[in-house]
Amino acid sequence: MPHITDADRGGAGPGKTTREGDDPVDHVTWIVGNWKMHGTREALGEALAIKRGAQMLNATPHGSGSGASAGDLVRFVICPPATLLRDMARCLDARPGDGRSCVALGGQDCHWAPEGPYTGDVSARMLADAGAEYVLIGHSERRSGHHENGPMIRAKGMAAAAAGLVPIFCVGENSRGEGFGDGFGSSARTISAQLGEVLPADPLRPLIIAYEPNWAIGTGMTPEGEEIVEMAALLRHAAIERSPVPPDQIVILYGGSVRPDNASAILGLAGVNGVLVGGASHSADKFLAIGAKAIAPAI
Ligand code: PGA
Repeated sequence: MPHITDADRGGAGPGKTTREGDDPVDHVTWIVGNWKMHGTREALGEALAIKRGAQMLNATPHGSGSGASAGDLVRFVICPPATLLRDMARCLDARPGDGRSCVALGGQDCHWAPEGPYTGDVSARMLADAGAEYVLIGHSERRSGHHENGPMIRAKGMAAAAAGLVPIFCVGENSRGEGFGDGFGSSARTISAQLGEVLPADPLRPLIIAYEPNWAIGTGMTPEGEEIVEMAALLRHAAIERSPVPPDQIVILYGGSVRPDNASAILGLAGVNGVLVGGASHSADKFLAIGAKAIAPAI
């Protein structure tokens, strides 16, 4: 197993991720919502409420001397069902590539091929065409429900990047591992192996990895804070080892039962740049309350 250093553990923390070549986003915390198979056009109002709230949050003076401008503090990403992407992009006036927009859109999955005889699938290019800027890749519900494996997920990530999307690679163990004391239990081995299988050779900027223990998804259970710190450090270290990406381009998210009442503690963990939220993401109130913790943890 790799040797995790203190730099890996504290390497980023919320609000310390930069994107080279873009407007400076030195103080970004990522709040990504996975709507899963929820939402028809009636839910567009909820997305609009998220956008308004996100704008207000980012316009709120934050601390002293942060130097951050509007849009730089908390980056919200909504990943709605593919059927809603185009309408949501119009409704939110979401502009892919516009680093200043507070809310960007993402797909929940894409095929590895640009087009072809794949009934029911959606390509990365189609997602981009519909207004997506990001796409979740290898979510555990795709791994378990659609038998996706490492090579498929890697190919999807490459297809996403080729279409101009930023892939968000999801990794996570099925059951709570033992031996967390030193951070190198079976869970650590699982996610390290998963990451090794899915990371493309070409550098991605940013490289976004979501640590989502399957046993925490939708269950109300979350790992202890130090467990998340260890896993985030392990992923950061493994990403640096395996991908020619500058360390300050690596974004590590935690996902699994993130709620307004635990978001503050999770977002405050060293090496965690944000959260991937499922159940609490399609309610504007809850999603914004989670985002607010990135700015004012005590609220
Ligand atoms: P949850 O889902 O927040 O409902 O646990 C997270 C996810 O599946 O991405």
